[in-house]
Amino acid sequence: MGKRDIISILDMKDDIEEIIDLAIELKGKAKRGESIKYLKGKTLAMIFEKSSTRTRVSFEVAMQKLGGYAIFLSKNDIQLGRGETIEDTAKVISRYVDAIMYRAYSHENMKELAKHATVPVINGLDNEEHPCQVLADFMTIKEKKGKLKGLNFAYVGDGDNNMAHSYLLGCAMVGMNILIVSPEKYQPRKDLVEKAKEIASGTKIEITDSMTALNDSIDVIATDTWVSMGDEAEKEQRIKDFHGYTIDSKVMSKLKPDAIFLHCLPAYYGYEVTKDVAHGKQSVIFDEAENRLWAQAALLVKLLSPSTFGD
Ligand code: CP
Ligand code: NVA
Repeated sequence: MGKRDIISILDMKDDIEEIIDLAIELKGKAKRGESIKYLKGKTLAMIFEKSSTRTRVSFEVAMQKLGGYAIFLSKNDIQLGRGETIEDTAKVISRYVDAIMYRAYSHENMKELAKHATVPVINGLDNEEHPCQVLADFMTIKEKKGKLKGLNFAYVGDGDNNMAHSYLLGCAMVGMNILIVSPEKYQPRKDLVEKAKEIASGTKIEITDSMTALNDSIDVIATDTWVSMGDEAEKEQRIKDFHGYTIDSKVMSKLKPDAIFLHCLPAYYGYEVTKDVAHGKQSVIFDEAENRLWAQAALLVKLLSPSTFGD
């Protein structure tokens, strides 16, 4: 069997629920003080081209809790930043470590690294997808709602960014109905919408620019920054374009009374969400951030020690 990369949320198509259940199990064990050292002697390299708080800390701590080791590599500190090719970087680092986590600007570079690495490559965010975040989000939804299939999920804001794309494909994959509310100019890429529709069997996918589509059937609502890393030059324009798309208490009051609010963070209060909603009683953002740790721990066990849990 070849190595397994996680470049897209779709790379977990066959076992995402298993990974989520394992994540919940690992979280329980660790909280009870039981050992979860399933990756003794394993090393993860983490290459970052962009800033990170959650991804860096959660992967590093996950490896530590699993009995392994993680190495942080900022692009500017390694020869990649001075022009060494991605191909050579992938081939060399693969000789030292058991897996590579990569946060990249470009999805093409992500694919190039995965192509040449001889160990599993995990996408820690690129311009197209953020699969580890959506894995943690789905874990959080499962913890709070007991299931994924059949729930109504709404995403409001930049529909053409990494989070929106991974939600779109991920929801279609697990059978959650998805409503994306974005200004027309920022709606999800057509080819990804088509792909999601192909996967979805009986799952509803709706894309609109109208906030009036948000109603009392919504179980989960999520948003993300209007200005992703790399979009900074468009900041002023984007703030104008997204006017009216803020999730505030008025928007929350239109949803199911027990609807939960998700945000991958970092959040910019007063723009995509107000602080009273993000820190309010329906918000689960800090559980969601914590779950990056457990979801990735489960993913790492699946990739690096699949026989531990009976594969
Ligand atoms: N949500 C997320 O990926 O956060 P960081 O950019 O801090 O890693
Ligand atoms: N869409 C955001 C996610 C940050 C975790 C970005 O790419 O900056």
